Amino acid sequence: MARTIAVLNGPNLNLLGVRRTEVYGADTLADAEAACRSQAAPAGFAVDFRQTNHEGVFIDAVHELRSTAAGFVVNAGAWTHTSVAVRDALETVPGPLIEVHVSNVHAREPFRHHSYLAPIAAGVIAGCGIQGYAFGVARIITLTGGPA
Ligand code: DQA
Repeated sequence: MARTIAVLNGPNLNLLGVRRTEVYGADTLADAEAACRSQAAPAGFAVDFRQTNHEGVFIDAVHELRSTAAGFVVNAGAWTHTSVAVRDALETVPGPLIEVHVSNVHAREPFRHHSYLAPIAAGVIAGCGIQGYAFGVARIITLTGGPA
């Protein structure tokens, strides 16, 4: 059975390609999902790609997938900077976590510079557009032993 990489997206990421395109670019979340699948498939990995605007739904998804996913690629959006609850959920995940941001959060407002997730992440990718998702998937594949 193919191993699965969980790719979880938080609030407002459904509006990628629509909101603030000068910051986030024109690519959509569907483009990000396609990039993840293209990266994962040749290595024999499946992708479980989700987005929600509801924190509890996000946490439930982490609980659902925590013990079956090989690893997690997470763009928690604004929850990155605010949510101890999302951090606590992701702390229970045994596999590696890669934190992704489409924009370079470090070149933006100071409130985006702090991440509750970075200290528990195996890596952080910011400012690479949706390509960052594919980088995150590639990193999970490496960290979990490479292609099947
Ligand atoms: C984001 C950066 C966050 O600061 C912001 O709240 C988002 C998107 C990014 O992908 O660049 O919603 O996570």
